[in-house]
Amino acid sequence: MEFSLIDTPVQNFEGDCVVVFAHSNTGVNANNIQPLIELNNFESTSGTSLLLNFVEGIKAPQVLVLGMGDLPNSANNYAKALDTASKVFKTIKPKSVMIEALQITGFDENWVFRMTAQVLQNATYEIQQVGKDKPVASIASVAIQSGQNNANELLQGRAIAEGMALARHLGDLPSNICTPTYLAQTAQALATEFDLACEILEEEDMAKLGMGSLLSVSKGSIEPPKLISLSYRGKGDAKPIVLVGKGVTFDSGGISLKSGAGMDEMKYDMCGAASVLGVMRTIAQLQANINLTIVVPTVENMPAHNASKPGDVVTSMSGQTIEILNTDAEGRLILCDALTYVEKFNPAVVIDTATLTGAVIVALGKHYCGLMANDQDLANDLLAAGKTSLDGAWQLPLEDAYDELLKSNFADMGNIGGREAGTVTAACFLARYTQKYRWAHLDIAGTAWLSGTKKGATGRPVPLLVQYILDQIN
Ligand code: BES
Ligand code: MN
Ligand code: ZN
Repeated sequence: MEFSLIDTPVQNFEGDCVVVFAHSNTGVNANNIQPLIELNNFESTSGTSLLLNFVEGIKAPQVLVLGMGDLPNSANNYAKALDTASKVFKTIKPKSVMIEALQITGFDENWVFRMTAQVLQNATYEIQQVGKDKPVASIASVAIQSGQNNANELLQGRAIAEGMALARHLGDLPSNICTPTYLAQTAQALATEFDLACEILEEEDMAKLGMGSLLSVSKGSIEPPKLISLSYRGKGDAKPIVLVGKGVTFDSGGISLKSGAGMDEMKYDMCGAASVLGVMRTIAQLQANINLTIVVPTVENMPAHNASKPGDVVTSMSGQTIEILNTDAEGRLILCDALTYVEKFNPAVVIDTATLTGAVIVALGKHYCGLMANDQDLANDLLAAGKTSLDGAWQLPLEDAYDELLKSNFADMGNIGGREAGTVTAACFLARYTQKYRWAHLDIAGTAWLSGTKKGATGRPVPLLVQYILDQIN
């Protein structure tokens, strides 16, 4: 999809469809449309739409009116309106579209350009069925009304959506295709496409580094584990931002086997990995002036005669020992070794993203991801990036009082903290491996995919992380 800016009244646009916005309290700007809105009893509440054909005085044959609720315009209502528009476009299949300029409270015109491109491009994503051809998108060009004539933000918005599309595609793939080996091949393909430095560690390499915790998770599976690193250099010798993504390509729970209902969704347990690969695609495509490294520990968690058993004790790369009380708390076991490994990159900051706990879904539902950090400035930057990108994070406390729940009689720590505050104790576990640098953790178990009839990956938190990274440049 191509995006551009256009300085013309909507009446004069000569393409297939113009999009205008209507408010419940004040109606629409363009004349000739208001009476039609009233005729149709269109209420203009957020998320609604009305399609009009051959409106007098408007050159484009179709006018799509989007409800925005009351003024002033909220950012969330704008994104929702564009989502509604995308659904209509799937039916009417316009080749060229113009979107009326709109002011959004708290954001500038550039934000509107970027969000418009991102939301419309992201809406073209379709799940690719195994063994079937790739679906093709319908709209070719979108022009946004503006007096400006050139905006980098349009390219940014599209690049973010393309990063999200990679993350969504990897998430939606079944675990018999998207294995650790497949993720490593995907990383290598990105490295070739964008000229990135790529390193894949195999089981023997990890054994030499002493990654006994990570390897304890993969040992019950026939799929070999991988530790993927990809580095993009856009800023000389500056310290890199390092992103770490949990890549459990299927989480059966291991010997602490999960129950059957909904277990298929554990193919999404690599969405942290998918999101950091997506962020890398976006940043490399934009040739951003920053250094970025992503690290993906990736394994399959299976029960087997040679799998880890509850009570087993392993030694992590950091030297700290862990009593595996529950083999289903495997995410932290692979992340801790990856978080020790990233010290070698001399990171400016480290942010990990992981579908780590079911408890975060209980705490925050599907709207915010959980944020915990050992550095409040970093946490504040991520909270702000979440607000700007409409990909929100909500901070939970990371305090010593919770860390005590990890005590073990048999090792330096257990891998679970009991029933209470499961999201926080998981982060406390990781915090024991991240003391040498500024670090934040995003628990995306609630936000990375949707269940039920809308089952599918969301591409989150690609927008949040890209926003954070771009904010470090400006
Ligand atoms: N991948 C799961 C977390 C998860 C569960 C994400 C459900 C989305 C939906 C993780 O590996 C896990 O199993 N966590 C356990 C931890 C517990 C054993 C301490 C959990 O949340 O139940
Ligand atoms: Mn698990
Ligand atoms: Zn898991």
